[in-house]
Amino acid sequence: MTIDTAVAGQRERDLRNGGRELLSGDPLKMVPHVGQLLARPAWLLDFLRDGGMMKFPNVVIPGEGAMAYEDVGAALERSTVTWQDITWIRAAWQGPIVVKGVLGAGDARRALDAGADAIVVSNHGGRQLDCVAPTLLALPEVLDAVAGRAEVYLDGGIRRGSDIVKAIALGARAVLVGRAYAYGLGAAGGPGVGKAIEILRSGIVRTLRLLGCLEVTALDRSYVDGPDFPVSS
Ligand SMILES: Cc1cc2nc3c(=O)[nH]c(=O)nc-3n(C[C@H](O)[C@H](O)[C@H](O)COP(=O)(O)O)c2cc1C
Repeated sequence: MTIDTAVAGQRERDLRNGGRELLSGDPLKMVPHVGQLLARPAWLLDFLRDGGMMKFPNVVIPGEGAMAYEDVGAALERSTVTWQDITWIRAAWQGPIVVKGVLGAGDARRALDAGADAIVVSNHGGRQLDCVAPTLLALPEVLDAVAGRAEVYLDGGIRRGSDIVKAIALGARAVLVGRAYAYGLGAAGGPGVGKAIEILRSGIVRTLRLLGCLEVTALDRSYVDGPDFPVSS
């Protein structure tokens, strides 16, 4: 469950790209932006062949079917989500719940109280509220608050194996990857995703070897030094 998306962030590139206008269906609004689609005919063809704009089959609107991508922003703005919703989902869902978007001790404790089994320290890749903490800096506080009661994962800016090693050394159980795999997908489709994962995997191995560690379980906080992470021993 993502808890940092009460509304969409102000994504200025999206405004400039005219995504909203292109999705509006209003020809007058679309015209100024159509040129960028026509300039990329191969991409456009692929996009249309692939079914065009995605739908969300896990959000079913009675009488209409799966929610259309362009309706998500408005739906978010109409909804009010609180911690009680997680409590309600906890009662309805027997499987594990992972709460994503935690950046401090208070929210970490609330997530556990509401029944979360794991927490993702995430700032949504910097796509929601500008100027929030880098996740690596928020991680120690969250780990202290969780105190081993749940697994803690991290995402945001993972681009290299060494980024993963830093997060694991500071105590994350695992990391999540957003754009790194998407860049591979955009560049070369499925094989590009494989390549992106391989870059991360080999980067982990290389970093561990350079640190003199046989495996990730050998990592601890002492491997990350710097003003924000003073080495204690
Ligand atoms: C195109 C795009 C769409 C995303 N959509 C969602 C989403 O629907 N729900 C969500 O929790 N996070 C979403 N995220 C955020 C990612 O799950 C993740 O937190 C973030 O991308 C991590 O940062 P990174 O891209 O630097 O790895 C999205 C990210 C991108 C780039």
